[in-house]
Amino acid sequence: MFDLQFPFRLKKRRSLEISNHMPKMSEQYLEEISQQFQIYGEILHAETCKIGHINETYAATYDQAGAQVRYIHQKVNQNVFKDAVAVMDNLVRVTSHLRKKLIERGEKEFTRKALTVVPTRDGKSFFQNGNGDCWRSFYFIEGAKTFESAQTPQQAFEAGKAFGKFQSLLADLPGKRLHETIPEFHNTRKRFLTLQKAIEEDRCNRAKSAAKEIQFALEHEEIVDVLLNALAKGKVPERITHNDTKFNNVMLDQETGKEMCVVDLDTVMPGLVLYDFGDMVRTTTSPTLEDELDLSRVEMRMPMFESLVKGYLETTRDFLLPAEKSYLVFAGKLITFTIGIRFLTDFLTGDTYFRIHRPGHNLDRCRTQFSLVGSIERQEKAMQKLVNKL
Ligand SMILES: Nc1ncnc2c1ncn2[C@@H]1O[C@H](COP(=O)(O)OP(=O)(O)O)[C@@H](O)[C@H]1O
Ligand SMILES: [Mg+2]
Repeated sequence: MFDLQFPFRLKKRRSLEISNHMPKMSEQYLEEISQQFQIYGEILHAETCKIGHINETYAATYDQAGAQVRYIHQKVNQNVFKDAVAVMDNLVRVTSHLRKKLIERGEKEFTRKALTVVPTRDGKSFFQNGNGDCWRSFYFIEGAKTFESAQTPQQAFEAGKAFGKFQSLLADLPGKRLHETIPEFHNTRKRFLTLQKAIEEDRCNRAKSAAKEIQFALEHEEIVDVLLNALAKGKVPERITHNDTKFNNVMLDQETGKEMCVVDLDTVMPGLVLYDFGDMVRTTTSPTLEDELDLSRVEMRMPMFESLVKGYLETTRDFLLPAEKSYLVFAGKLITFTIGIRFLTDFLTGDTYFRIHRPGHNLDRCRTQFSLVGSIERQEKAMQKLVNKL
């Protein structure tokens, strides 16, 4: 890969301004990081997009031959993704394929519709510094925004459409299987066994206070093998899935509100499309947050589900098998249940995985998930009838 010499002979540099309370020490650091990538403009300023649990995301503006252009610089948490090479290998293959498919389909603005990885000056997909931090850069997608949660059925429709399109474009990714960057991520049986062990050991003496939730979990054991069995029997195929299909990972066009681009590709892995759809049901159909205390507000809202599934089917029709379609509603229940038992397990074992902000937080989160499972169960027949008609 060709490489220009950098730095250009710079005039006396203005100091880099970084807004949004970016820690002081990071200013100079970000400037240094930016020089590792094949970006040859002059960095003008930068701002924090999001400091999340996993990534730190910054938007930097450059002067490039008189035009102002923006790039994303993102630091990836090494604790979560121990194998950054595998994560980035997946990401490069996926984004390159998305781009190729969009061009083949004659879609305009394809650099706004898929992430574009900017390589480092030595042609790598990410830069790792001395203390193990891993950085990567993308084109900044202009004129699009993410929102924390879907507020309207129209937005649910766009979310379904976006993740469906993502799966569809990747359905024919050539080459070897993607790396399983988080092994056994969706092994629901294993998650259930871990819960059973936590209940038996009851290390923190908390099982008493979660008796109702434990009972609910154990009574639902029969659902945990359903999709695993369908996969083992070849009824549903393994495909490429996103695995973090929250609404805030879809960028919407600022003017039209239509889906533009799916982001946050660290967890893209082989899996069942049903897991992605199930998590969309979990995260878009209830008006409540994951840890809502007022359980009477937790509800699977039919209009949101209807729009979500319509959007999803609009973009998946060309590849989705009837067997996959038949499990869409069930997947919503199963994924919500599975997240619920993960919160319950963490509560019982002393809150070691999910960070808590108050005592009992993981039990509250579990209750919210189980309430949503209950709401889905009460409407399961009607949901299924609706999907069958589409
Ligand atoms: N290429 C991009 N262009 C513009 N904004 C982006 C881009 N990539 C990410 N973002 C913004 O940064 C936010 C965080 O990025 P994301 O990859 O989702 O990390 P996290 O794991 O912290 O959610 C996104 O929700 C989006 O608003
Ligand atoms: Mg995200």
